[in-house]
Amino acid sequence: MYIFGQSVLRKQAEDIPTDYPNLQELIANMFETLKNAEGVGLAAPQVGLPIRVVVVDLDCISEDEPQYKGFLKTFINGHIIETSDDLVSMEEGCLSIPGIHENVKRPSRVHIKYLDENLTPHDEWVEGFVARVIQHEFDHLEGKMFVDRVSPLRKQLLKKKLIGMTKGKFSCHYKAKPNH
Ligand code: NI
Repeated sequence: MYIFGQSVLRKQAEDIPTDYPNLQELIANMFETLKNAEGVGLAAPQVGLPIRVVVVDLDCISEDEPQYKGFLKTFINGHIIETSDDLVSMEEGCLSIPGIHENVKRPSRVHIKYLDENLTPHDEWVEGFVARVIQHEFDHLEGKMFVDRVSPLRKQLLKKKLIGMTKGKFSCHYKAKPNH
C-alpha cells in the first residue's frame, strides 16, 4: 500500500487500453490487497499505478448490511459525469492515510461511466454508501485524497500527523510503502 507522501497518489491517472497487459491478474491482486487491508475500496494509484482501475468490496460489510452481499465490483476507466446538488457528511478513512478518520461532505448521488471487469460499458447513477465509496476512490484517480476535502480547521489540526506520515511515522497492519 502506497502511503500519503508518495507522488503517485498525487498524479492524474490515465485511462487504459482494453488490451492492457495482465489486467485480470491486476484486478485479482487489487481485490486481495483490499481484503488483506480490510478496506472497502482500492484505486490503482494506491498500489503504485497511475491508471484508472478501482475495485470495491462491500461484501465484507454484508453481515451488517445484507443488501451488499456479493458486491465485488471493478471500475475501469471510470469517470464521474455529473453529481446531485445536495451534500451529505460522512466519516471517511483511507488505506493510504492510516489512523486518520474525518467527516467529508460529498454529493449524495453521482452519474458515472466505466467498464466492468469484462470490459462491458456501464452508464448509471449510484447513491448512498456506494456513491460515497465511488467518489472517494475516483478522487484517487484525480490525485485527490479525502484530507484535501476536510474543513480548513480540521486540516490545520491534521497537518502535523500528515507531515509525520510522509516521514514514515504511522502504523498499520498491512504492508505499507511510505515515501522515505
Ligand atoms: Ni482512499
